Amino acid sequence: MEKSQDMKTITVKTPGQEPYDICLKHSFSDLACELKKLGCEGRRICIVTDSTVAPLYLAEVKEQVQLCCPAAETYIFEAGEQSKTLATVQELYKVLIQAGFDRKDYLLALGGGVTGDLTGYAAATYLRGIRFIQIPTTLLAQIDSSIGGKTGVDFDQYKNMVGAFHQPALVYINLSVLKTLSDDQFASGMGELLKYGLSFDADFYEWAIEHMEGIEEREPSAMAYMVAKCCELKRYIVEKDPTEKGDRALLNFGHTIGHAIEKLKNFTLTHGACVALGTVAAAYISWQRGMLDEDEFYEIRDMNVGFGLPISFDSISAEDIIAVTKSDKKMDAGKIRFILLKKPGKAYIATDVTDQEMLEAVKMLKAD
Ligand SMILES: NC(=O)c1ccc[n+]([C@@H]2O[C@H](COP(=O)([O-])OP(=O)(O)OC[C@H]3O[C@@H](n4cnc5c(N)ncnc54)[C@H](O)[C@@H]3O)[C@@H](O)[C@H]2O)c1
Ligand SMILES: [Zn+2]
Repeated sequence: MEKSQDMKTITVKTPGQEPYDICLKHSFSDLACELKKLGCEGRRICIVTDSTVAPLYLAEVKEQVQLCCPAAETYIFEAGEQSKTLATVQELYKVLIQAGFDRKDYLLALGGGVTGDLTGYAAATYLRGIRFIQIPTTLLAQIDSSIGGKTGVDFDQYKNMVGAFHQPALVYINLSVLKTLSDDQFASGMGELLKYGLSFDADFYEWAIEHMEGIEEREPSAMAYMVAKCCELKRYIVEKDPTEKGDRALLNFGHTIGHAIEKLKNFTLTHGACVALGTVAAAYISWQRGMLDEDEFYEIRDMNVGFGLPISFDSISAEDIIAVTKSDKKMDAGKIRFILLKKPGKAYIATDVTDQEMLEAVKMLKAD
C-alpha cells in the first residue's frame, strides 16, 4: 500500500508542557531504548495493565522495562469500563506507597483507553503529579485516548466525571498488538477513526473508504498509515487547544448522543460503536439543516456497516437519550455544544440544536 508511514516519531508540544514523542513501531523491541532516552534508568516504574492484556503482553513489556529499570512493579486490574473508578485508582496508590514510589518515578499504562485514563489520573494526582508513559494497545487508544493528556475516571455512572489534564512523557505504539483485538474492539477504534476523517479531513475519510479491505484485514501498512495520520491530526488539535477551550471540542463529534446511548445501554456497546451511532445522528441533523446532501448522509451511515459498526439500536427510548444528553459535560451555560458538519471533513460547534432536532435524529436510529 502507498503512503506507508512506518517507524515514525511524532513530537507533541503543548504550551507550558514538556514536549513528548509518539513512537510508532511494529514491536516492543525498542522500548528499553526509548525509556533510556527519557532518562528513566534506575528509576522505579509501575506497569499498570488489565486482566486481558496482562497474559498477552505484560511479560514482553516487563522484560524491556527491566533492561532499563530493574525495580519494576506491576498492578493488574479487572478489564472493562467498570474498573475506571476512584476505587481502582486508590488500589494503585496503595501499591505505589507500599513500594515507596517518589516524585521521580514513573507509571506505565499498558492497555486500552480505560488503562490509560485511570493510570494517567493516578499519575496526575499521586504526590501532586509523577510522570507516566502510555503504551496503548487498542486501536481507540492508539489513535485517540493516549494522546493529549486527558485523564480521568467515571463517577456514579457519570463518564469521565473526575479527571485532570496530565501529559504523558512518551507514547509508545506497537502496531502489531492490534492483531489480537476482538472484531468488536477493532470496530470501536474505527468509530473514532471515521470521526477524525468526517470532522477534520475529508481526504482521510475517502482513504479509509478506499482501503476498507486492507483495514479490515489489519494489514500492517494500512495500520501504520492510519494510526500515524490520526496521531498527527490529534497532535495538531491538542497543540492548538490543549485544554479544550476551542477547536478541541470538535473531537467530540458524535459524542453527545453517543455518550447518552453508551450510558443507557449500561456500557454493553463499545465506546466507538456508540460514537458511530452519535455520528450518524449528527450527520442526520446536518443533512436536515441543508449542510449535507442526501447521498452524503447515506454514505456516512452506510460506512458504519462496512466497518462493522451499528446504524441502529433498540431497547432504550429516544426521550431518555435526550434527557441524558443534558447531564453531559459538553454544555455551555446550559446549552449543549453539539458538533455538526458544514460538509464532510469540516465540523463546527453548534449551540442552537433543539431537543426536537435531536429527537428526530435519534428516532431515525431506533430499530424497534
Ligand atoms: N482520554 C481521552 O482522551 C479519551 C478519548 C477517547 C476515549 N477515552 C476513554 O477510553 C475508554 C475506552 O477505551 P478502549 O476502547 O480502549 O477500552 P478498554 O481499555 O476497556 O479496552 C477494550 C478491551 O480490549 C482489551 N484489549 C486491550 N488491548 C488489547 C489487545 N491488544 N488485544 C486484545 N484485547 C485487548 C481490554 O482488555 C478490554 O477488554 C473509555 O473509558 C473512554 O472514555 C478517553
Ligand atoms: Zn471517544
